[in-house]
Amino acid sequence: MCGIVGYTGPKEAYPIVITGLKRLEYRGYDSTGVALLNSGLKVYKKKGRVAELEESILGKDLHAHTGIGHTRWATHGEPSDRNAHPHTSASGKLAMIHNGIIENYAQLKKELGNKGYVFTSDTDTEVLLNFIEDIKENNQCDLEEAVRVALKRVTGAYVILLLDADSPDTIIAARKGSPLVIGVGKGEHFLGSDASPMLEYTKEVVYVNDYELAIVRPNELILKNLGNEKITPFVTKLDMELAEIEKGGYDHFMLKEIFEQPSTIHDCLRGRLDATAGTITMSGIQNNIEHFKNAQRIIMVACGTSWHAALLAEYIIEELCRIPVEVEYASEFRYRNPIVNKGDIIVAISQSGETADTLVAIERAKENGAIIFGVVNVVGSSIARISDGGAYTHAGPEIGVASTKAFTGQLAVLIMMALKIAKEKGTISDERYKNLLLELDAVPEKVNAILKNADALKAIALKYKGASDALYLGRGYNFPIALEGALKLKEISYIHAEGYPAAEMKHGPIALVDENLPVVFIATKDSYHEKIVSNIQEIKARKGKVIAVITEGDEIIPGMADDVFYIPEADEIIAPMLSTIPMQLLSYYVGIAKGVDVDKPRNLAKSVTVE
Ligand code: M6R
Repeated sequence: MCGIVGYTGPKEAYPIVITGLKRLEYRGYDSTGVALLNSGLKVYKKKGRVAELEESILGKDLHAHTGIGHTRWATHGEPSDRNAHPHTSASGKLAMIHNGIIENYAQLKKELGNKGYVFTSDTDTEVLLNFIEDIKENNQCDLEEAVRVALKRVTGAYVILLLDADSPDTIIAARKGSPLVIGVGKGEHFLGSDASPMLEYTKEVVYVNDYELAIVRPNELILKNLGNEKITPFVTKLDMELAEIEKGGYDHFMLKEIFEQPSTIHDCLRGRLDATAGTITMSGIQNNIEHFKNAQRIIMVACGTSWHAALLAEYIIEELCRIPVEVEYASEFRYRNPIVNKGDIIVAISQSGETADTLVAIERAKENGAIIFGVVNVVGSSIARISDGGAYTHAGPEIGVASTKAFTGQLAVLIMMALKIAKEKGTISDERYKNLLLELDAVPEKVNAILKNADALKAIALKYKGASDALYLGRGYNFPIALEGALKLKEISYIHAEGYPAAEMKHGPIALVDENLPVVFIATKDSYHEKIVSNIQEIKARKGKVIAVITEGDEIIPGMADDVFYIPEADEIIAPMLSTIPMQLLSYYVGIAKGVDVDKPRNLAKSVTVE
C-alpha cells in the first residue's frame, strides 16, 4: 500500500507530483520521494510525510517536465531515508518507484549478489530495479524489453514507474495487482495510484490492467501486454470530485477499509498460506518454533480491538495447540506485578505498533527474559522493532479510528500461527489441518459475499439508530466478536453497548432487557448453536428485540429473531472472521444515521501513544 504519482508534459512536474503525493498519503506515509528528469536524474527522498520532504528540498533545483513520486507504506525494510523510493539502479541511470511486494525478491537478490551487485536498501524494489538493469545490459535491449523480460520472472504484486536518464520525457509503467490510472491531457500524461493527482487537469483516464505495460510520453501513450502486443487504451470519463476520490470513492475511510477486507485478508495470507500444498510459511514462527512447541504458556498483551483478537486467539490456540494462553490488558499488565519467567512467550498485538501501554508492557516482560512475538500492522513501528520475532498483518494503512481491516488481518495471522504450531506439535490431525487451511483460503471470497449484502445491514441500522443501549451476545469463538461488535458501536455511534458471553447475561445484564433493547446475537452454526437458540428464546420471552447474525441455511433462528443477517457457512474457528464484518457495517450505518464523524469520533485517536 504505497502511493505513486507521475507526470510528463509541458508543465513543471514537481508541483504536480508533490500535490498528488499529498492526496495519496492515506496509502502510506513512512517516507516520501521524487525523481525528476531534466538534464540527468535528480532524486530527493526522505523518511516521513510529504510535507517534510517538501520543506527539506525548498530551494533545490526542482525544474523538470518529467517526474515521478512515491509515498511509502513500508513492507520490506523499515521506514528510513535509504529505504525510501525512488531507488536508483547500480549505474545511476534508472530510477524506479514501486507499490506492491515482489515475493521472489530473495532469490533474485541472491542471483544478483552472485554477479557482484551491492544493495543500498533493504527493499524488494531495489532488487527488481537492478534485475531490470542487469537484463538491459546483458541482453543489450532497450528498457521496455528489459522490463518485459524481468516481469515474466517476478511473482507478487506491483505497480512500477521507471525513469531512464537516457530518455528524458518517457515514463515506463507496468502493473499487476496494484492500481494504476493514467490521465490523458492535451500533450501531457499523468499517472497515479488513483485519479486524485490528476483531477484538476483531466477527467479522461485509462485504467491499466494486470500484466500491461505503458510507455508514456507527453504526446503518446502506448499500452502493451507482456507479449509485446499493442493494446488500444480504453479512455474512461471520470465522474468524481476530488473530495470523494481522496477516499477512493468511499464516503469515509472506515467504509473503504471495511470494503478493502477481501484484498487485505488475501494480502495477509499471500505468500504464507498454501492450502493446496498444505503449508504455512511464517519465518517469525519458524525461527522460534522450539520455543512455541515447548512453551508452558503464552501470554497475550494488547488493547481495544487488538485485545479482542487476542481473546479469540486464546480460544483457538488452546483448542488446536493445547498450550495454556493468558490474555492481558496491556494497561493492567504493565502496572501489576505479573509472573513472567525467562523463556515465557509474550505475544503483543497492535495495529499501530505504537500503543504506549502495549509497548511498555512488553519492555517490562523483556527485562524478565520473556520472548516477545509481535503481531503488528505498521512495519518498522516501535512494537515491531522491540519484538524478537513476529508477523505483520499487511492490512495497509488504517486511517479510520475504528479498527476494521487490521482486526481481520490480526485474526488471519493468529489463526495461521495456531495452525502452524499445532502442526509442528502434532496436536492437530492431518485432516483437520488441511480442512482449516482450505477454509482460511476461502475467507476473502466469503467476506466479499457478505459485503455485497451490506444494504440489508443499513436497513437494520436505520431501525435501531434511536436506541440508547444495546447488548451483544455470543458464545465460544463468537464471544470475542460480541465484545468487538459492542466496542465498534460505542466508538462510532456513541450508543452505550455491552458485549457478554450469551449465557452470562442471565447473571445480571438480563435485567436491562425490555421492548426497547436491541440485542445482537452472533449465532452462527457451531457447537454452541442449540445453546444460543435457548438464549435467544430467553431474550424474546422478555420482549427484547433480537438482531441475529446467522449461517446461511439456518431455519430455526429466523422464526424467532426480529431481524436476521446471513453469512456463508464456515468452520467455527474461521467463522469469526466473517461474523465480525456485519458488526462493522452495522455500527458504521448507525453512526452515519446519527450524523457522527465516523472516521474521527470524539475523544479518540488512531494511535494511543499516551498511557
Ligand atoms: O494500534 P493498536 O492496535 O495497539 O490500538 C489498540 C486500540 O487503541 C485500538 O484497537 C482501539 O480500540 C480502536 N479504536 C478500536 O476500534
